[in-house]
Amino acid sequence: MTIYDHVLTENDFVHQNDLRYPFEERGLQFGDGIYEVIRVYGGSYYLIDEHVERLYRSAEAVKIEVPYKKEQMYDQLDELLNKNKITGDAKVYLQITRGSAPRDHAFPTNTDANLYAYVKDLPRATDKMLEGVETITQHDVRWDWCYIKSLNLLPNVLAKQAAAEKGCYEAVLHKDGEVTECSSSNVYLVKDEKVYTHPAKKNILHGCVRIRIEEFCKQEGIPFIEESFCLEDFQYADEVFLTSSTSEVMPILKVDELTIGEGKPGGITRKLQELYEEDAGIPADQSIFKRNLKAQ
Ligand SMILES: Cc1ncc(COP(=O)(O)O)c(C=O)c1O
Repeated sequence: MTIYDHVLTENDFVHQNDLRYPFEERGLQFGDGIYEVIRVYGGSYYLIDEHVERLYRSAEAVKIEVPYKKEQMYDQLDELLNKNKITGDAKVYLQITRGSAPRDHAFPTNTDANLYAYVKDLPRATDKMLEGVETITQHDVRWDWCYIKSLNLLPNVLAKQAAAEKGCYEAVLHKDGEVTECSSSNVYLVKDEKVYTHPAKKNILHGCVRIRIEEFCKQEGIPFIEESFCLEDFQYADEVFLTSSTSEVMPILKVDELTIGEGKPGGITRKLQELYEEDAGIPADQSIFKRNLKAQ
């Protein structure tokens, strides 16, 4: 997939080939930084306010000064799409680190943060959204502050790799049997037409799509219950799904060896997929439901 040439940095735009960092860069050496992945549909950002708010929250939590004021950040992110002439479906990856400085655990003094943001094409995973995916379970061995979108993703990487080795899409994480989220998405269980998900406490990432899922549920009169559930509860689930900016609303058909419900995407998941498409402004001819009809 194409990475577009114009990359936003802490000062201005540079060509992607000109982006260079020394070995002694805090993001590289300590994972001392934060990031965002922002979805773009048809050349426009989706959930941009939610992502920008979370970015500044993460930065504040780890005491990194964002090189741009919020208003400037919006302008620069728009300019990133303009300069790269983005008209289709894409994602923006943005990261900010504590900067380049001689390696020492304590914060360096007089060091500015490094920022880069680039755009990459990202077609929607429509086949998977239609068919559903399989998952495995993994112990959640991460730290207590997963609400910070930090660069320290080694536990997430290992969990996702374990899933990939079993031919699965995601790893559902749990702490002593209590489900938190997935390695790169939030997870939900549907029982008796109610949607359950882990409360937005410090031990999960507060997903931008999760915020919308809560709103969709409210709008449809579907109870959205922020209550953690256990691995055993999957046996009794009618539906399970996950959400993220890249996966949207993804039905989960299996958790380890257990088949969820009837082993196919359920009605509430389908409804939330429909509401997501509407909210994200997906054109009717690109709807997964249109593809579904065609396939029948
Ligand atoms: C651990 C984790 N949880 C949840 C999410 C979903 O967040 P969002 O909906 O903002 O994409 C992500 C996204 O990358 C994630 O990495």
